[in-house]
Amino acid sequence: MKRLRSTPLRLSVILIAVFTLFMTAGLGIAYVVMRDALGADVALRAEQVMQDLRAIPEPAERLERATEIVVASELRSLLLRLELNGETVASVRPLPEGLIDAEDTGLPEPLADSYLVRHTDLAPGQLMVAVGRDSIAELNETFVAILGFALLPALLLTSAIGIVVVRRTSTRVEAIRRTLHALAGGELEARVGAPHPDTDLGDISRDLDRMAEAQEAATGALRQIGADIAHDLKTPIQRVAVRLERLGETELTDDARGLLDQTRDETSQIIATFESLLQIAQLEGGQGRDGFSAIDLAALVRDMAEIYEAAAEDAGVRLTCTIIEPLPVIGDRHLLSRLIANLVENALRHAPGTDIHLSLAARTLSVRDGGAGIPPEQRAKVLRRLVRLEASRSTLGSGLGLALAKAVADVHGAKLDLDDAAPGLVVTVVFPA
Ligand SMILES: Nc1ncnc2c1ncn2[C@@H]1O[C@H](COP(=O)(O)OP(=O)(O)OP(=O)(O)O)[C@@H](O)[C@H]1O
Ligand SMILES: [Mg+2]
Repeated sequence: MKRLRSTPLRLSVILIAVFTLFMTAGLGIAYVVMRDALGADVALRAEQVMQDLRAIPEPAERLERATEIVVASELRSLLLRLELNGETVASVRPLPEGLIDAEDTGLPEPLADSYLVRHTDLAPGQLMVAVGRDSIAELNETFVAILGFALLPALLLTSAIGIVVVRRTSTRVEAIRRTLHALAGGELEARVGAPHPDTDLGDISRDLDRMAEAQEAATGALRQIGADIAHDLKTPIQRVAVRLERLGETELTDDARGLLDQTRDETSQIIATFESLLQIAQLEGGQGRDGFSAIDLAALVRDMAEIYEAAAEDAGVRLTCTIIEPLPVIGDRHLLSRLIANLVENALRHAPGTDIHLSLAARTLSVRDGGAGIPPEQRAKVLRRLVRLEASRSTLGSGLGLALAKAVADVHGAKLDLDDAAPGLVVTVVFPA
């Protein structure tokens, strides 16, 4: 189906169809014109012989002239029969079997096609002239040969060339399409790839790769600015946090202590945000594999379920956990704990009052809740940094939890997806085999 939409294929089919149409039409016209000319020649010949013999009144002389004419003609190309009072006087040149046996003056079937037969009255007697149509039969053979040895191979050859061209171009078009699709989906490192042939499609591939290169560099620079700002602001804010801590140790009025507590909460939120931003930047920059070791993901999931059991109980919901078998993976225990924690905290925060289910089966970790879920068109968006949906504006958070979870999954070569749990959200993380 996809192939049928390919422009080169359509062009090839149209070109081959036009070529075939014109060739067959040209050959057909040439054939008809030549066949008519040859037919006219044959008729003229018969007419000439009849005129020649009609002009001779004497039967004996006529027979002599008829013999002369036949002898001078090519073998079998001319047959004559003279009749007098209904009886055959002479068949000049032995007629083919069928012709002698024929009762009437017409020729039997197979021969009727091969000869043009004319009858004429002589004074006295009758004459039958049969002129061979060999030349027309030869013309037919010639045209069949042209069709078989020229037109058919030409058609096969052009079709073969067409198929090769279509294959080549559709492979490149497919590569360009795939790259565009990947780039649109946020895979900024996607490229059509060299070699770029010296064709228009090659130029487009090269330009597309250059554009992707520029876009990746620009995005990288932006990320770097974000990370730099977070890095530069983190230390002064941490100092503020330490001073607030010291302030808390002094004598304060109740009002002042209330304000201090609020300020401390907000500073720790700011510090958490900066830490997450920096961690995501580090993971996206390819760091994060330093802490990799062989761990059992099943044990880790079980530990996290235990840790969050109390929080779930406080929130009045049940947290269940299904684990089929141990799952050894190479990864960072701390990062993977953070991933699970972010997902469970999201369920607690964004799907309040619904049970949470953690499971690990067939290399897939999933966290499911029974809340409002995330509409399909928002699912890619919430994986980006600092994105929070309208419905969550009133809840705590900075919109970094899912971005960090995705960065952790990526660094482990795992694939994180958001799906509908009907009702609720299910986040799956599939670990590579
Ligand atoms: N389980 C869920 N059910 C419904 N919506 C969710 C769920 N998890 C996340 N979301 C939506 O996705 C948005 C982004 O989630 P993310 O974890 O990145 O940020 P956050 O939870 O708002 O803040 P943070 O995790 O940084 O504290 C949330 O603001 C919320 O709108
Ligand atoms: Mg979150």
